[in-house]
Amino acid sequence: MPPEACAQPVATSAPARKRRADPSGRRAAPRRVYDSIVDAVGDTPLVRLQRVVADYPGEVFAKIEFMNPMGSIKDRVARHLVRVAAADGRLRPGETVVEASSGNTALGLGMMAALEGYRCKVAVRDRTSPEKLRALRALGVEAVLVDSELPPEHPESYNQVMQRIVAETPGCYFPDQHNNRENNEAHYLSTGPEIWEQMEGRIDYLVAGLGTGGTISGVARYLKEQDPSIRVVGVDVEGSVFTRYFRSGEVGPSAPYLLEGLGDEFPIECVEFDLIDDMVQVSDREAFLHARELARREAIFAGGSSGAALWGVRQVLSRLGGEPARIVTIFPDHGSRYLSTIYSDEWMRRHGFLDA
Ligand SMILES: Cc1ncc(COP(=O)(O)O)c(C=O)c1O
Repeated sequence: MPPEACAQPVATSAPARKRRADPSGRRAAPRRVYDSIVDAVGDTPLVRLQRVVADYPGEVFAKIEFMNPMGSIKDRVARHLVRVAAADGRLRPGETVVEASSGNTALGLGMMAALEGYRCKVAVRDRTSPEKLRALRALGVEAVLVDSELPPEHPESYNQVMQRIVAETPGCYFPDQHNNRENNEAHYLSTGPEIWEQMEGRIDYLVAGLGTGGTISGVARYLKEQDPSIRVVGVDVEGSVFTRYFRSGEVGPSAPYLLEGLGDEFPIECVEFDLIDDMVQVSDREAFLHARELARREAIFAGGSSGAALWGVRQVLSRLGGEPARIVTIFPDHGSRYLSTIYSDEWMRRHGFLDA
């Protein structure tokens, strides 16, 4: 008999006994015993937001992606990119996986490299938090720091350094997460179906940030295939080119920003704009203050792109004007990655995000 069945009131003349909560807090769940940490990627919880959307008559749920082993949604992508490339011979044992990453994909690739016998070398922007850089080192990933203020045409800029690493590294595999739709496929195959099942097929809005675009595109494709009426709202960051490109098809100039994980300097292949119904653009300040609010009020300790997602949800709520809807958002990574940035009062003040 399944454990839940034991909890049902029994038809008896005696008063039904109330079920006592297990004092350990444990819940009936399948045994989760794995042969490898990579098997623990995915199947993350969905949590209903309460206090930060207290006055809203609808429901808002967040997919807690920092519960993945390396602390971010990018573990799903790293696992998929490495496995499909190994399966069709693009990546061979002992070779080096190289990638441009805001740090989280690099950590996922570092996990795969450590477990499945590869080396890993990545280009990361110098705005990447010290915590992420140390975590990369712990996993044996070689990180090449790039000046994030340089324009894309500069030979030392992010993408140009990446191209040079690829040219100079013998026996390397460059998944190119920004332009390789296998990134989107990782979410189409895992994140999307998980959300659909957890929401029991009742979703009105998906609100998600865009970095490579893999998450929003893969999840949106899956959800819209199940229910074409689901609206998808992308969260971009001020300084990125995505929003203007979405609205007008023009590639405007980019500007520096501090938020990690969202936005880019030019349109990329993995952002499938035709799956996105609307876009909103958050400032660094709002993203960081919303992340801090999430920690204080919901005890959800997440990164700046999660703050951006909450801000995006609030934009949708204000447009809905009290109309109840079921909204899903995604919180991509953990706050501990940003202890010396977003969660440092001193850093926040230095950048003008907190008053003295
Ligand atoms: C912290 C964080 N948030 C959001 C994203 C965006 O996810 P995607 O690249 O799938 O658009 C990333 C991607 O690197 C990230 O690292």
